[in-house]
Amino acid sequence: MRLFVGIPLAAAVIGELAAVSARLKSTQGGLRWATPESWHVTLQFLGNTGPEKYSCLVARLRELSSPPVPVRLEALGCFDRAGIFFAGVGLTPELLSLQQRVTAATALCGFVPETRPFHPHITLARSMGQARGQSLRELQTRIRHQPAFTSFAATEFLLYESLLSPAGSRYEIRERFPLLSCP
Ligand code: 2AM
Repeated sequence: MRLFVGIPLAAAVIGELAAVSARLKSTQGGLRWATPESWHVTLQFLGNTGPEKYSCLVARLRELSSPPVPVRLEALGCFDRAGIFFAGVGLTPELLSLQQRVTAATALCGFVPETRPFHPHITLARSMGQARGQSLRELQTRIRHQPAFTSFAATEFLLYESLLSPAGSRYEIRERFPLLSCP
């Protein structure tokens, strides 16, 4: 199973992002838009995982305790090299702390933490093919002003399975982990 840990979005934010992404979509090719059901904030990508490691992972993540985490979307932007158009997410101390607790928990099962800095984001579109850079540049010119998004408190994080197909990845929720004010 190809796994990752992430935070799902509140319904209000999904509605706001859907409006933004509908406005920015154009008939121009070269971009594959993520669907609202797939939107999330990745905390850690785990990759291919066998059954034994899966059991360890779930047990360790169940032991993790954290209060609800405030999530605030920020500016729309691009990771040029990865060819990704995203909505940025503010790196609050609470979000960083949750990400660190998740990576510490998964390390106990042999998952290797990412060495790059954590840049929380929601991937909205991926550029494809030869016109990669151009599609992203054209997209950026259509952003006239940065939208405002409703903040929310994440009350759970999820273990997702990523199912690859030629039409793009589909994500299925495998486990849910509540974030409780008074554990
Ligand atoms: P991305 O959206 O910025 O590509 C499932 O693929 C999730 O894990 C996505 O949110 C993806 O981030 C993230 N991810 C992080 N590292 C990854 C990797 N090496 N391969 C695939 N996905 C990765």
